[in-house]
Amino acid sequence: MSLVDLSSGDRLLAVFDHALRALTSTPQAARPKPVPSRPGAPLDDVERRRAGALMRVNHVGEVCAQALYSAQALATTDLALRRQFERAAGEETDHLAWTAERLSELGARPSLLNPLWYAGAFAIGLLAARAGDARSLGFLIETERQVERHLEGHLERLPERDQDSRAIVAQMKDDEAAHAMAAEQAGGTRLPAPYRWAMRVAAKVMTTTAHYV
Ligand SMILES: [Fe+2]
Ligand SMILES: [Fe+2]
Repeated sequence: MSLVDLSSGDRLLAVFDHALRALTSTPQAARPKPVPSRPGAPLDDVERRRAGALMRVNHVGEVCAQALYSAQALATTDLALRRQFERAAGEETDHLAWTAERLSELGARPSLLNPLWYAGAFAIGLLAARAGDARSLGFLIETERQVERHLEGHLERLPERDQDSRAIVAQMKDDEAAHAMAAEQAGGTRLPAPYRWAMRVAAKVMTTTAHYV
């Protein structure tokens, strides 16, 4: 059920439920996992570990996306916007499910700090939402663009033979670009440079930590 149809108390409960599901259950993708156009070759141990670390970082990014969209859907009073956030969050759930599945195929584990990443991203999402819808959308545009660039970097860093991870990351990159465009069309305004810089620093801390923990 959409948050739009719920009372504010029920919305809060739905938000807690959403957080628990993002952190503890196996997410269900609405779309099939992207498959490579040409099959990859078996990975050696070094490649498998490298791909696992990169996909753990991407999985953390999707945990954060769940939190950000959930916070912003909760905070906005614009019903059309809330539906837009929920639509995008649905695609982020696909990303969460695909990266989780790929992590386990690679024999890697999700970040141990996922509850912390989720809580931090949720708090930042609420803060952005308090600045009003235009700024909140501006924050989303910047987030999605940074994620898109980050995924582009991963397409260069993932082992060439890991075509399965590459297919997932390529589809995610296209989806994040579409999310940025949707937020732009909904009236998002560009964030001032210091905010964009601070977001890049925060993202760097998160991606560097999640590579290992
Ligand atoms: Fe995503
Ligand atoms: Fe996105």
